[in-house]
Amino acid sequence: MRQAVLVSPKHIEFREINAPSSALEAHQVLINVKRIGICGSEIHSYHGLHPATFYPVVQGHEYSAVVVAVGSEVTVCKPGDKITARPQLVCGECGPCKRGQYNVCEHLRVEAFQANGVAQDYFVTTDDRVVVLPEGMSLDHGAMIEPSAVGAHATNRTEVKGKNVVVSGAGTIGNLVAQFCIARGAKKVLITDVSDFRLDKARECGIEHTANVLRKPLKEAVKEVFGDEGYQVGFEVAGVESSIRSLMETIEKGSDIVIVAVFAKDPQLSMFYLGEHELRLIGTMMYRHEDYQTAVEYIGKGSVHLQPLISNRFAFEQYNEAYQFIDENKATTMKVIVDLEK
Ligand SMILES: NC(=O)c1ccc[n+]([C@@H]2O[C@H](COP(=O)([O-])OP(=O)(O)OC[C@H]3O[C@@H](n4cnc5c(N)ncnc54)[C@H](O)[C@@H]3O)[C@@H](O)[C@H]2O)c1
Ligand SMILES: [Zn+2]
Ligand SMILES: [Zn+2]
Repeated sequence: MRQAVLVSPKHIEFREINAPSSALEAHQVLINVKRIGICGSEIHSYHGLHPATFYPVVQGHEYSAVVVAVGSEVTVCKPGDKITARPQLVCGECGPCKRGQYNVCEHLRVEAFQANGVAQDYFVTTDDRVVVLPEGMSLDHGAMIEPSAVGAHATNRTEVKGKNVVVSGAGTIGNLVAQFCIARGAKKVLITDVSDFRLDKARECGIEHTANVLRKPLKEAVKEVFGDEGYQVGFEVAGVESSIRSLMETIEKGSDIVIVAVFAKDPQLSMFYLGEHELRLIGTMMYRHEDYQTAVEYIGKGSVHLQPLISNRFAFEQYNEAYQFIDENKATTMKVIVDLEK
């Protein structure tokens, strides 16, 4: 079978290797990988800028696949099912794992970063991580359950129902966070960015209220959209100091801000202001199984829209070209998909 290996930054090597054996352990699932989404963290690995990965590494952790064979105890799926699966390998024994917070396992390894991913024709996963795609869901959308689950989890870190919400940053993740806020019953959602292209995409996905903070300060946009009601939940999905600062400065006292982005540089914030306003800054890390299920459910019933987020697709042999395209079209690229059937 084909395998794409990132042997060193900017160098993907294609190999022909034996497919995994179909003699499976009780809870293993052998899958035929169909689509792989390329994510921001993998772009960092590709450029040698990811702080926690190794080389050579097989990339690919946002994917859809068809089940080929299952181990003797597998009941969640059967051969022929279209599925997606979480890329998290957890210890099951640490404090967070015992509390059910395995997404922050002390020994977490993520496929494509600290373990090999799925950039190959066949792959073995385990049944506890598999979610079957509903009838009618495309393989493209199946490969986008992973980033959607990030949105599902982040919007479950605090109550958004009935609240006014600001999402700062309208990249793929911010867009999905905003869509999940709407799907979960937020009252009004305002999404901001510094790129009109990203805000256009947000509106295409049904996020009505947008603001370009280069042209309009957040304070003004908040006043326009929420009037005297203000807003009670913020999501920081841009990863820059000016964004988290303006959220802290405009949100209602006693509110929650969920920090979704990974900051390349730590921001300087006033802890005095945070304490005095009784703000809560809340972390969020990937997702748990129920977030995958929620993502599949909301996308399946049309509450979350993925189609506008797909920027381009490439054949498996064009993995390098896919990264080249992303580099050359940064401003106008959301999700790029590698199609193993193309
Ligand atoms: N917490 C998690 O589990 C998790 C999972 C996946 C990704 N992430 C992180 O989420 C972040 C967003 O991911 P993405 O793929 O959407 O990235 P992205 O770079 O596409 O999106 C960031 C957006 O923020 C915008 N932006 C820049 N400055 C801004 C400002 N001052 N105000 C408003 N918007 C501004 C950019 O124009 C861009 O559209 C990244 O930091 C990523 O690492 C976190
Ligand atoms: Zn990802
Ligand atoms: Zn653990």
